[in-house]
Amino acid sequence: MLIATAGNGSSADSTPSPSLPGPASAAPSADSGDTARHWWRDAVIYQVYVRSFLDTTGDGIGDLAGVRTGLPYLKKLGVDGIWLSPCYPSPQHDHGYDVADYRDVDPVYGDLAEFDRLVADAHRLGLKVLLDIVPNHCSSEHPWFRAALADGPGSPARSLFHFADGRGVDGELPPNNWRAMFGGPAWSRVKEAGSASEAPTGQWYLHMFTPEQPDLNWRNPAVAADFEDVLRFWLDRGVDGFRIDVAAGLFKHPELPDSPDPAADERTRDSVNPLAWNQPEVHQVWRDWRALCEEYTARDGRDRLLVGEVSVRTPSEQAAYVRPDELHQAFFFHLLTARWDVDTFRRVITEALTDIAGTGSTVTWVLNNHDQVRTVTRYATEPGGGVEGIAAGPGGGLGPARARAAALLMLALPGAAYVYQGEELGLPEVVDLPDEVLTDPIYHRTGSRQHIRDGCRVPLPWSGHASPFGFTSGTDAARPWLPQPAWFAEHATDRALADTRSFWHLYREGLQLRRSLPQLGEGTLRWLDSPSQVLAFVRGDGLVCAVNFGTEPVSAPAPGLPLLASGDCPAGTLPGSTAAWWMHAPEAQ
Ligand code: NOJ
Repeated sequence: MLIATAGNGSSADSTPSPSLPGPASAAPSADSGDTARHWWRDAVIYQVYVRSFLDTTGDGIGDLAGVRTGLPYLKKLGVDGIWLSPCYPSPQHDHGYDVADYRDVDPVYGDLAEFDRLVADAHRLGLKVLLDIVPNHCSSEHPWFRAALADGPGSPARSLFHFADGRGVDGELPPNNWRAMFGGPAWSRVKEAGSASEAPTGQWYLHMFTPEQPDLNWRNPAVAADFEDVLRFWLDRGVDGFRIDVAAGLFKHPELPDSPDPAADERTRDSVNPLAWNQPEVHQVWRDWRALCEEYTARDGRDRLLVGEVSVRTPSEQAAYVRPDELHQAFFFHLLTARWDVDTFRRVITEALTDIAGTGSTVTWVLNNHDQVRTVTRYATEPGGGVEGIAAGPGGGLGPARARAAALLMLALPGAAYVYQGEELGLPEVVDLPDEVLTDPIYHRTGSRQHIRDGCRVPLPWSGHASPFGFTSGTDAARPWLPQPAWFAEHATDRALADTRSFWHLYREGLQLRRSLPQLGEGTLRWLDSPSQVLAFVRGDGLVCAVNFGTEPVSAPAPGLPLLASGDCPAGTLPGSTAAWWMHAPEAQ
């Protein structure tokens, strides 16, 4: 425990108190009014990027047996379950987000029997298992797409995708001006079977990501029917739910008209094209999937969870996806993209509690995932999310302290939270991977290292002083699929477990308190008056969380019983870049 006990909470600091805590200011309530206990409403789920978690076969790539091996570690950490990144058969153009078969496991990760053992072991330990499902697009090696290429224009097989004739005299221009998320046009032209020309002179197909990820046509009922079958396939194997990729995609404007601002689509690489994303028809899919989950729950009483990756512009647009008969939850990415700034954090948290919790769902907080620069690095320099301009190496500066403070903040907020593997180790981003090892299609399609995602996907360090740090083993063990820097040693789990001041212990203690204190998890949040650089709120009947976003110490809120802090808190103070929890003494309320 890093916090200095302050006896009865009286301040040793003679400076005037910055009036923490004080009367409530804005008071959005996170109380949904739904008192039924559903495990997912305040669960903390650990995101396992399978490829980089633990390799048991010595090929340098993580696998499902490795995840099984790591389950006791995750149980000890105190999470409620795991989300597995896609492990379906895939040519891995986008590391599994290009699925060639939705009903199997890629041999590089294991097989269905291993998957079943993993689910059984997780359940024995009381851990839920969420699968990543990718309904917006499949792989160009999926049998449906192969048939579409073979069967030609106008065929039923082509109607499962978005095929169209090109514009221009000979159809040499794409059907519209849409840009792909990972760079370049969103259309590729095919070579028709039997064509004498060696060049692709046939129809075009739509892909909002890479050409190897053709978008499915959800206006064809066969697509919905097949996905329902896929959901049943995995639910019958015991999974507890699904993380849904690109959940605001699926439907495109039926006429596929030009985007009003293709330059913005290209520049932001975000879901801003209003004709390609967030079409109203998508909501019926989520209603159908929710009903399917309820059908399983009605059978055995076990809640199933649908958590969506819903990339839309505003929290209120996101709220539409978590209406009571749609997705249970959607990641709240506005916290993840927030700058380290007190006003920004206050604004996004308030918006989330107002717009999302108001639907009856709970907010699903997230600070890191496999697509973003890790917090330790991001908060150190705030370059806007990319890796350019960030100094190579283990990082330092204020990044680690801010990342620790952000973790305590997230775990104190009402709702659910997701922790990305390595976050509990305080892993920094690896920003200086050599060009020749980069695998992210964003890099290969844009030629830019900005926004690339390899740096947060480097295999985890488990033990020892040199790569592979226990990630992969065996005498003939191959090197990890992405190289680990020497300084990963400082973050290896064996060191983290042995050091009570590590990120790992902070996360563990935070998670333990979440379990034991009724004020945490779901419930009310009330803002407290605080100095301008401090965010402070009270949960339930008296658990206070305060975060000092500044660099100068402020007087600590007192009196109260200190519970946990993200850094050393000399009695009576809350240092800069530090968060603390304490139980508010009744006389001070
Ligand atoms: C979002 C996933 O998080 C990302 O990793 C993937 O590349 C895209 N969706 C496309 O499936």
